[in-house]
Amino acid sequence: MSQQNIVVGVTGGIAAYKMVDVVSQLRKAGFNVHVIMTANASQFINPLTFQTISQNAVMVDQFQAPSHWDVRHISMADKADLFLIAPASANMIGKIANGIADDMLSTTVMATTAPVLIAPAMNVHMYENEIVQQNINRLKALGYQFIDPEFGRLACGYEGKGRLASNDVIVNTILEFNCLKDLQGQKVLITAGPTREHLDPVRFFSNPSTGKMGYALASQAGKRGASVTLISGPSHLPDPKDVNTVRVQTAQQMYEAVLEHECDADIIIGAAAVADYRPVQQAAQKIKKAQDELTLTLVKNPDILREIGKHKNNRILVGFAAETHEPLKYGLEKLVKKNLDLIVINNVSDSDAGFAVDTNRVVLMDVEGNEEKIELTSKQQIAIAIWDYIVKHLINKEA
Ligand code: PMT
Repeated sequence: MSQQNIVVGVTGGIAAYKMVDVVSQLRKAGFNVHVIMTANASQFINPLTFQTISQNAVMVDQFQAPSHWDVRHISMADKADLFLIAPASANMIGKIANGIADDMLSTTVMATTAPVLIAPAMNVHMYENEIVQQNINRLKALGYQFIDPEFGRLACGYEGKGRLASNDVIVNTILEFNCLKDLQGQKVLITAGPTREHLDPVRFFSNPSTGKMGYALASQAGKRGASVTLISGPSHLPDPKDVNTVRVQTAQQMYEAVLEHECDADIIIGAAAVADYRPVQQAAQKIKKAQDELTLTLVKNPDILREIGKHKNNRILVGFAAETHEPLKYGLEKLVKKNLDLIVINNVSDSDAGFAVDTNRVVLMDVEGNEEKIELTSKQQIAIAIWDYIVKHLINKEA
């Protein structure tokens, strides 16, 4: 599977400078980014800036000499998995809506069959102008998608709707867009959440896992085209969209559910915080507090990942390590002991990482000794980075 190509069209407007950061974020997210600028855009920002950030030649002039022979606007149009125009001026929106193709950007958009996302930015009165609105509605009806501008103070001094959507909104829209299907055809099995080991009907041993990390991995895999089964311990989170979610309570049930689904899976990820022990006996009725002391005997639960590691064949096996000290040392031990391909190490003593928070900070360590640190970010972004790593280093390692 090859890297996804995003063609970014930049038109003339002060918001053009914001696209430098957007292009940089898209590169970091693993996209191959090609920038096309209009002549007006190049008045606001030098093409060399985009060339340096995207590490690809920037096209402005339709007739500029290609490095090798191809019809530039056609080859770029064919290459695009997704087309983004941001900031999109009233002029460019009008051209596309009316079939005018008279420069590099408008001819390439006209020739592409890729989905096109348009993020307008202009003066509020221009944006509200009936002609512009009709052009937008016409393009929407034809399947072009829009990232609406924001309300706020505009460069022209006015206040109103017309400011380019924020960089995060633009990048997230692209990440969530269906064009990224690099897990298409992969069958993925993920464990998530805590397990509950009951002592009696009303008391149990558990841990603070909410399932957020594992659910983020499941929903991101689904968005990228994988067929996903999520085996979840008790969690308040709703089933992720398009994911086959199987709910269990105990480690033993999680183990049995994994065994039932593992033969189908190409990639298995253990993000669950599985209880290592359970009480030997579970009382059928609530234990009365008759004694001053109560001694419990615990017995070991199956180590789900370790068991799969013993017969993993061609499957990719990924584990997590939840550590409170010397995380890299203990993470490496688990990578080897469980016969994993990759381990995601989080330091759960950090208040903003690990259990029950929306953010995480991890180190990825693989069997070949490679390490990658992912600084504090949302669990959704961590999930994206983990999948990027798996696609790049484990699925496409021969490429
Ligand atoms: O759910 P959240 O609130 O979002 O929190 C996320 C998380 C902290 C639970 C997650 O990021 C995480 O670290 N998950 C693994 C927790 C854990 O149990 O780690 P461990 O180091 O004890 O286990 C190592 C690996 O073996 C894990 O992949 C675990 O799923 C697996 N394991 C452990 C015990 C067992 N009996 N069976 C297993 O499969």
